[in-house]
Amino acid sequence: MALQSAKYNLTALIQTYQGLGEGDSFCCEQQSRSLSLSAIELNTALFSLRSSRYNLFMSERLPWIAADPGSQRLLALAEKVAPAPTTLLITGESGSGKDHFARLVHELSPRRDAPFLKIDCTSLPPHLIESELFGHERGAFTGAVDRKLGRLELGGKGTIVLDEIAALSPEAQGKLLRVLQERTFERLGGTEMLRIEARLIALTNTDLNAAVAAGHFREDLFFRLSVLPIIVSPLRERRADIIPAAEHFLSVLAPIHNRGALQFSEPARRVLAAYSWPGNLRELRNAIERAVVFSTASEILPEDLPDNIRAAAGGAALIVGLRSLENLEREAIAQTLEATRYHITKSAEILGISRKTLLEKRKKYGMQ
Ligand SMILES: Nc1ncnc2c1ncn2[C@@H]1O[C@H](COP(=O)(O)OP(=O)(O)OP(=O)(O)O)[C@@H](O)[C@H]1O
Ligand SMILES: [Mg+2]
Repeated sequence: MALQSAKYNLTALIQTYQGLGEGDSFCCEQQSRSLSLSAIELNTALFSLRSSRYNLFMSERLPWIAADPGSQRLLALAEKVAPAPTTLLITGESGSGKDHFARLVHELSPRRDAPFLKIDCTSLPPHLIESELFGHERGAFTGAVDRKLGRLELGGKGTIVLDEIAALSPEAQGKLLRVLQERTFERLGGTEMLRIEARLIALTNTDLNAAVAAGHFREDLFFRLSVLPIIVSPLRERRADIIPAAEHFLSVLAPIHNRGALQFSEPARRVLAAYSWPGNLRELRNAIERAVVFSTASEILPEDLPDNIRAAAGGAALIVGLRSLENLEREAIAQTLEATRYHITKSAEILGISRKTLLEKRKKYGMQ
C-alpha cells in the first residue's frame, strides 16, 4: 500500500542516516548507496502519495487510524470497494466507526467531489423519512406547500448514507427495494420517473439477520443490501489501535481546549490500553476530551480519566512503573476513597493512617 511503503521507506531512511558514524567511511559508502536507492523509492512513494487520495488520511479532514492488522484490512477493503458503484452494508457496534468508514469509501472513490449526504432513519417519523429520501411534489400531503427535492436526487453522482437502516418503516423498505432493483423512483405525490445515480451505503448496529427472522426487516431488501457486507470490528478486537487513536484524539482535542502540548503519562496509557471500550472509538474520544478538560498537569494522569474506565482497567494499570512516591500516595488515597465511597474513617483504617492525616492529605492533593 502506498501509505505504508512510504512510511516504511521513511523509517528506513532515517535509520540509515542515524546509522552513519563519522569515521565509518567504508560503511558510509555502502550505506550511501542503499540510501540513494531508498531515496528514489521514497520519492516515488511520496509522489504517488501526493497524487492519490491517501493524503487524506494524513490530514485533519479524515484521519484513519489503522495500527492494528484488523483496521489495515478494513482500509484495504475500503480501497477495493471504493471505485465500484455497488451498494454497501456496513455493520458494527455503536461508536466503532461505521460513519467514518462510509466517509473513507466516499473519499477514496471517484465520487469524492460529488455530495456526501446522510440521512438518519431513526430521527424522523416514517412519512418524513420518505419525503427526505424521495422528495415530494406540492400538495403531496398536508404541509407540503412546495416541491421538495429528496436526498436521492440531491445526492447526484455522490454517496448517500442511510444511517440505521433497520429503523425504516415497512413502506419505506418496499420503496427502497425498488430503488435498488430498478434504480428509479418518484417524488411523493409525483409521477415523473427519476433515476438514481448516487451510491447507497447502509449502516446499522442491529443484527439484520435477526431482524429478518423476527419479521421486522424485509428479507429481499436484506439480500439486495448485502451484496458487499462490511463489518467494522469493535475496538477491543483491534487493540493495537487504542493508543494511536487516543493520541490522535488528544492531538485534535488539546488545541481546541487551549491545552497545546499535552501528553499521556505512562500510567494513563496503561489504563487506556487495559480497558475494553464497549462504546468503542466514540467512548475513547469522549474519555480523552474529558481528560483534557480535567487535567491540570502537563501530562494526562489516570485520575483525569473517567472513574469507570479506571476502575475497570483496575489491576492491569497498577502494575508499578516508575512513579514518584507522591504519585503513588495520591493514587492509593484516591482509590481507597473511591472503594469505600468516601468513608473517611474506613479509608484511614485501610491506609493505616489517622483520620486527621487522611484529611490533610486529601486537602493537599485537592480531593475535596
Ligand atoms: N479509524 C478511525 N480513525 C480515526 N477516527 C475514527 C476512526 N474510526 C472512528 N473514528 C472516530 O470515532 C468516532 C466514532 O465513529 P463513528 O461516528 O463513525 O461511529 P459509528 O459506528 O457510526 O457510531 P454509531 O453507531 O453510534 O452511529 C468519530 O469521532 C470518528 O471520527
Ligand atoms: Mg454513526
